[in-house]
Amino acid sequence: MISSDWTQRSLAVEDWLKSWMFSQASGLMALDRCREMMAYSLVVPCKRFRPVLFLTVLEGLGQPLIHGRRTALALECIHTYSLIHDDLPSMDDDDVRRGQASSHKRFGEAQAILAGDALLTLAFELLGSEPSTVAGAMVLELAQASGMNGMVAGQILDMESSGKIPSLEQLQQIHRKKTGALIAAAMSLAGIRAHASPEFVGKLRQLGHLFGMIFQIRDDILDVISTTESMGKTVGKDLEQGKMTYPSLLGLDGAKEILRTVHKEAWQLIDELGVRPEELKSVLQFLANRQH
Ligand code: IPE
Ligand code: IPE
Ligand code: MG
Ligand code: MG
Ligand code: MG
Repeated sequence: MISSDWTQRSLAVEDWLKSWMFSQASGLMALDRCREMMAYSLVVPCKRFRPVLFLTVLEGLGQPLIHGRRTALALECIHTYSLIHDDLPSMDDDDVRRGQASSHKRFGEAQAILAGDALLTLAFELLGSEPSTVAGAMVLELAQASGMNGMVAGQILDMESSGKIPSLEQLQQIHRKKTGALIAAAMSLAGIRAHASPEFVGKLRQLGHLFGMIFQIRDDILDVISTTESMGKTVGKDLEQGKMTYPSLLGLDGAKEILRTVHKEAWQLIDELGVRPEELKSVLQFLANRQH
């Protein structure tokens, strides 16, 4: 996909996910049921973009891959919870996710909410067990990225903006929070785990936000030009639900133009940071052109 190292890291994430989800103590019916519902959404083919990005930066900062295990899983748990809740009938009302029936279609709405809650909680359990010198700062970073001023805030704004006339500033704010914040955390958490200075962690966060913006602009474009089969989720939903997106505001060409501008900015920042520049540039190319 991006490089052979990237593929190796994705394989490590798959292995860790499987062994973690299936090695937990069992015996209680509720636990088994809960784990089954979590694994249903988590252990399925998908991109693993956030954990692999985190591992790439972590290795670039001189840390061994295995040091990233817990945080990589935590990022994928938070992301997967956000998808389960995003698909609920009261949110985007999506029946397909990751190429299969979405969680509420499979288990019912109440159980899907709870599967999401369990994944969200597990993420902090995992981060809380990072080495004590960094665990507190890591929990804080992920909480700030996911909560009332991060992803959840973005989802609130996304919901409220449906059917309204968009402004570019509002749209940027929605994207920055609902998608950018977690991708930014994938980068900044690597810095924190590797004991980088707060200034350097800030730069990683900044680069992550640019990656996040490109990620969501491309997601909005794909919602217009791709197919449900290749995306593994229903396309055409944004238009149907009057979502505020770059294509709806600026048209497809305008959206692609903004993507190119952010791409240039990110390219320069990658050079400035000097962490695996060639690999991060190929990640950038992937983000801008991805087909699923
Ligand atoms: C989808 O994320 C949700 C958005 C933020 C656009 P991904 O495109 O990373 O979905 P998976 O993890 O590959 O299923
Ligand atoms: C999802 O944005 C953002 C989060 C899940 C936080 P979308 O609603 O555009 O994602 P898809 O298109 O359903 O994957
Ligand atoms: Mg949504
Ligand atoms: Mg959605
Ligand atoms: Mg979308």
